[in-house]
Amino acid sequence: MRTGEPFRIKMVEPLPITTRAQREEAIAAAGYNTFLLPSGVVGIDLLTDSGTTAMSDRQWSAMMLGDEAYAGARSFDHLVTAVQDTYGFPYVVPTHQGRGAEHLISRILISPGQYVPGNMYFTTTRAHQELAGGTFVDVVIDEAHDPAALHPFKGNVDIAKFERLIADVGADQIAYINVALTVNLAGGQPVSMANLRAVREVCDRHGILMWSDATRLAENAFFIQEREPGYAETSCADIVREMLSHFDGLTMSGKKDAMVNIGGFLAMRSADILTKARELVVLFEGMPTYGGLAGRDLEAMAVGLREAVDDHYLANRIGQVRYLGEQLAEAGVPIVQPIGGHAVFLDAAAFLAHLSQDDLPAQALAAALYVESGVRSMERGIVSAGRNPDGTNRHPKLELVRLTIPRRVYTDRHMDAVADAVIELWHRRHRIPGLRFTYEPSTLRFFTSRFEPLPVTVPTH
Ligand code: F0G
Repeated sequence: MRTGEPFRIKMVEPLPITTRAQREEAIAAAGYNTFLLPSGVVGIDLLTDSGTTAMSDRQWSAMMLGDEAYAGARSFDHLVTAVQDTYGFPYVVPTHQGRGAEHLISRILISPGQYVPGNMYFTTTRAHQELAGGTFVDVVIDEAHDPAALHPFKGNVDIAKFERLIADVGADQIAYINVALTVNLAGGQPVSMANLRAVREVCDRHGILMWSDATRLAENAFFIQEREPGYAETSCADIVREMLSHFDGLTMSGKKDAMVNIGGFLAMRSADILTKARELVVLFEGMPTYGGLAGRDLEAMAVGLREAVDDHYLANRIGQVRYLGEQLAEAGVPIVQPIGGHAVFLDAAAFLAHLSQDDLPAQALAAALYVESGVRSMERGIVSAGRNPDGTNRHPKLELVRLTIPRRVYTDRHMDAVADAVIELWHRRHRIPGLRFTYEPSTLRFFTSRFEPLPVTVPTH
């Protein structure tokens, strides 16, 4: 029997309706970069699940209770209590969003020349590690780099790769291991509890800190409940606490699994790291009790942390992502399998097999999908991967377009419209041209680069 959404809608926002001619003009003006489109020309916005959540009535009412005192605001205490209850860490330092927390922890824990292993890179995470003088080392299992590999926990750390790195460089040269829950760029893929235990065991043996990028940890918990033997009867809230019991601390982008439009934090067990984080947060974000946020933002996040670990919410959330992904898979559209927690990822390399990776297939597909339908998606391929320190392009194994589903925002009818648009494009894929750069910034180039289409070459097959 089908069940409906575990919420009803109290307020609606009209969507912009555009013509194809308007969209062709808009994408050209945006340099074929979906990040540069004004939202007023975007119909269904699947650019990101970050900060795009619809807040609940409880969150909105909590905002009215925000304590805007510069120092010692009670809203901070509410956030700390919520983090202690849901995540089990004693200490919390708020930041304006996830990358603010990444910036602070990278400065605190990384000495120049050290290595930071992680289960696949994330753009801002790696950028801050490099800024602090560290070198990211990918220790995710090989299956994560294969869009078709059907592994239930494709985000797992490859313990052998981690141990090889320790043997090669020495435990002293490893700043910490950063384990992302879930792995965004692998397709929103989870990490198993057994893997977390195994990572902890290696860390304990070598005296290495185990940190988490906990951005989508509630979604990770849902997959453990669904797939890992022994957890079917455990609530996601309990699974979250057990997952985090293995970690020394975390960085959080509240814009995802804390269900807010802005916010983030660091949480940890060490009073020493807390002291250092409090020193730095004053310099870069704000007082340690607000970290760049308003009191009302702290209140909304405190409520959102609890809502995000609700079993019914998570089943509906991940069910909606699957509802879209399964329609695409049934039509033969190449997508990353298994379907992950926050997004459906199109395999642009397979979708646009007539293009080489240097023709920027994922960027080209994202632009084409926008023109086709007004649906905004995001490139997660060679453009996002950026350049090596020696200036050459990184060539990631995954060349993907992300259809990211905001939390509690769109209905399944919207998902039907997205599926129709992608399937229509799949039938006309040979006509989609590649792109080339016309402007490229020096860091995080995907946000602001501009492109132009390559001449169309229509293959004979
Ligand atoms: N870590 C992961 C895994 C993320 O997905 C993000 C943000 C961050 C850290 C940084 O958090 O945006 O609050 O500073 N991801 C967004 C996305 C931008 O669209 O995937 P932030």
